Order: sequence, then C-alpha cells, then structure tokens
Amino acid sequence: MIQTIHLKKRPIGAPTQDNFELTESENDLTLKDGEVLLETKYISVDPYLRGRMSDAKSYVPPFEVGQPLNSGIIAEVIESKNENFKKGDFVRDRLDWKTVQVSDGENLQKVDPDKAPLSAYLGILGMTGLTAYLGLHEIGKPKKGETLIVSGAAGAVGSVVGQIGKILGLTVIGIAGSDEKVELLKSEFGFDRGINYKTTDDMKASIKEAAPNGVDIYFDNVGGEISDAVLFSINKFARTINCGAISVYNNTETPTGVSVQPFLIKNSALMQGFIVSNYSDKFPEAMEQLSKWLGEGKLTYRETIVEGFENTPQAFLDMMDGKKKGKMIVKV
Ligand SMILES: NC(=O)c1ccc[n+]([C@@H]2O[C@H](COP(=O)([O-])OP(=O)(O)OC[C@H]3O[C@@H](n4cnc5c(N)ncnc54)[C@H](OP(=O)(O)O)[C@@H]3O)[C@@H](O)[C@H]2O)c1
Repeated sequence: MIQTIHLKKRPIGAPTQDNFELTESENDLTLKDGEVLLETKYISVDPYLRGRMSDAKSYVPPFEVGQPLNSGIIAEVIESKNENFKKGDFVRDRLDWKTVQVSDGENLQKVDPDKAPLSAYLGILGMTGLTAYLGLHEIGKPKKGETLIVSGAAGAVGSVVGQIGKILGLTVIGIAGSDEKVELLKSEFGFDRGINYKTTDDMKASIKEAAPNGVDIYFDNVGGEISDAVLFSINKFARTINCGAISVYNNTETPTGVSVQPFLIKNSALMQGFIVSNYSDKFPEAMEQLSKWLGEGKLTYRETIVEGFENTPQAFLDMMDGKKKGKMIVKV
C-alpha cells in the first residue's frame, strides 16, 4: 500500500488539516531502465511550503490542487534499474509526499548515514545550513566585533545563523517566541542575549537594550512588526538579509509597516532579499565548512522529530505555529 498526501484546497489565511488529504493506493509500481524505487524515510516541513500552497507567483511554482505536495525528503533505494544507485543507498531530493515512489534518478543526491544521522541532511547539512551560512556570508558580510540580530532564532535556520555568528566573533542576539526558546538560544546555541517577542511590550526598547551599540547585521526570518522594530537600531552601513517573512505568510491583505527608505538612507544601509538557490555555485564550499564545524563540535543542532507519515500535515502546521525547537522533521 502507498500513502500519498495531496493539497485538497488552497488555504485562505492560516492553513489547517482541511487543506490536506491522505489517500491510499495499491503498490503496483514497476521500474523502467534508469529508474529507482524509493521508500521515504524523513520528510522536511518548511515555511516556504505555505507560499506554494497559494496560487501566487513566487520563486518556486505553486502546488496544484489535487496533486501531492512535495519537499526535501530522504529516501532509501529499495530497487534500482539505474547504474548510479543500488538497493540500500540513501538519497535526498525534492520528492512527493508519498511513502513509496519512482524516480528517474536525475536529481537524487546520495547521503552517507555513516557520516551524519540521515535527518541532518534535511537540516544543518541541507538547505537549512546552506541558507544560514550563505545568507550570513554573502549578504551579511560579517566582521569580527559586529552585532548580529537574528529573528526566528530558535528555528532551523536561525539557530545555525547565531552559532556561525559566534564562531566569527560577533555579538549575537536572538528573537524567539517563548522564554524556553530564549533560554535555549543562550544555553545550547551560545547566543549572547535573547528577546521573547511574545512577552515584550516594547520591541523597539527591548532591541535597544539588547544591542546597546546598535545592529550591524540583521538576519530576518520573520518580517513584519519585529523587523520594523529592528530598523530603529540599525547602524551605519548595516546589512539586512531578508531570508523569510513567516509573520506575514498567512496574511490575506498586503501587509503595511514602517517606511524603510529613511532608515536605509540615513544609515547608508543595505536590505537584500535572499534565496538560497541563487547561490548554488557556493554550496560545495559552504557544505564543507558546515561539516567541518559540525565535526569539530563548533556547531550543534536541534531537531523536533514527529513520527508517522500521516502526521506530516500536523507537523507542518505545528512548525508554522512555533510548536517545536530547531528543525521540524517527520520520520516515516
Ligand atoms: N530564502 C531562502 O532561501 C530560505 C530558505 C530557508 C528558509 N527560509 C525562510 O527562513 C525562515 C525560517 O525558516 P526555518 O525553516 O528555519 O523555519 P523555523 O524557524 O524552523 O520555523 C518557523 C518559526 O517561525 C516562527 N514564527 C512563526 N510565526 C511567527 C510570527 N508571526 N512572528 C515571528 N516568528 C514566527 C516560529 O518560532 P517562534 O516560536 O519563535 O515564533 C516557528 O518555529 C522562514 O521565514 C523561511 O521561509 C528562506
């Protein structure tokens, strides 16, 4: 039996279970030459999937209603008619939310379970790690002694950004959605200070207090009001990496906020949108550095692992709601 999760209908506002549908079908798959049969092991649930559930132009095409969703998946090759892959290999690709599926092998990347746990290839050794490393380096251009502030700091990308900031000798401040997460930033990821955006009654003042010398780099994972507040603390030549805007992904109206131009002009500051796939030529060097730091114990990571293929939609909804720490992953 093969299980598949489809997009049942597009969400308006926050997604719910009603947007997904699980179906079952007979496993009558057969392979042609060059194909491999894959069994899904781990599924990555990511904020960008929310954008793909809507029918709006973006940097990745929208999901089709009635069709399976897809995302980063680690799968095991269970049968192969492709000379590059053998039974028992583990591979990574953007694959459908199915328990079993056929691939032509074209985009499959082998991953080594002896070098790192398989789930890590969806997080710190996958898109998450690359996003953190390349966003911070390519746009943030960090210099020792500077102050970095990170929103979505206890999440998959944010927790890695902060740790890299510390390795590079920056003062690092994180913004997250609970006291427990703020504590985790300091105790596990080495951040200097943290702000709970849900309990502070004056975000601008909290940022000024946490960053008395101002902000040189802002790694923005959330957009919206939090990011508006950071503008009031940016320094001359500050750099903002617009990596994500999860706080407005469910908005049905175009969000409004402070007018950014005066802040950028008076501080000669930069704000730049970041999409990790634009930097694919730098993936090998970024991955080499991330693996090295991980091996040396300079980087660590947190995962929240949800068991069961059928729980993938709920894992996605919980990730969007912040009901997890670090990278949210489904184990099938
Ligand atoms: N541009 C790229 O190439 C690229 C690549 C990967 C990821 N991203 C973006 O980077 C961001 C982080 O991705 P991720 O995979 O690391 O996800 P994540 O941070 O692990 O999970 C999302 C987190 O966002 C926070 N959040 C939800 N609603 C919020 C709100 N209204 N205000 C503030 N925070 C809110 C929640 O944590 P709290 O408990 O702290 O609220 C939640 O845990 C996302 O915006 C994503 O779209 C961009």
